[in-house]
Amino acid sequence: MASRLRLGVLVSGRGSNLEAILGAIAAGRLAAEARVVVSDRADAPAVALARAAQVPVVILDAGPKPARLDLAAERELLEALRAHQVELVVLAGFMRILSTAVLEAIAGSIINIHPSLLPAFPGLDAPRQALDYGVQVSGCTVHFVDPGAVDGGAIIAQRAVPVHAGDSRDQLAERILAEEHRLLVEVLGWFSAKQVERRGRRVWINDRSREGGTGSGMQAAGTAAGE
Ligand code: GRF
Repeated sequence: MASRLRLGVLVSGRGSNLEAILGAIAAGRLAAEARVVVSDRADAPAVALARAAQVPVVILDAGPKPARLDLAAERELLEALRAHQVELVVLAGFMRILSTAVLEAIAGSIINIHPSLLPAFPGLDAPRQALDYGVQVSGCTVHFVDPGAVDGGAIIAQRAVPVHAGDSRDQLAERILAEEHRLLVEVLGWFSAKQVERRGRRVWINDRSREGGTGSGMQAAGTAAGE
């Protein structure tokens, strides 16, 4: 059994990805521990979820800029991650862009889940962007978070999700979200088992069950999700 991966989860809203993580941990499907949940919004449903699961919560006073954290909030964030001995930070619907200084401080230890097949449709409301563009396949991506472009870090894993004719934005977002929950838990399992290896922009998942063990690393495959 792998050792328990110490997670810090950053949230701003609904918290369904946080719920998927907590559910997988509780069910014994993920060898991890949510050490702290950090939010920029005290009233986020995700905060209530964390409290109900008795995970320590830190609420940041983000400051005046809507899309960023001010310096004091960033310091508080780093301090919370350090105090709770977080090994991997998960952005799970966190709506603020972290500064280069913060991202450099936790480089290689921070991931995000995004509801599109990146590099298509980075930024806000990716399901809306996908519908407006008219793609027939979208999906979700888990990627490292780098100081570069928003949603532009090295891709760890992706899953495709079909776009149906006549889909509303919410129908597509919901279909993608169901896949996000599965993908995020799977990726965290890889981190927990120390199977994730990054070489520049390419990320390899070492599958020890394959012949040759860690040497026969296999890139995370993007398999199409069911309906
Ligand atoms: C998800 O679609 C995630 O991909 C995006 O923000 C949304 C968060 O949803 N980054 P939830 O708060 O986890 O329900």
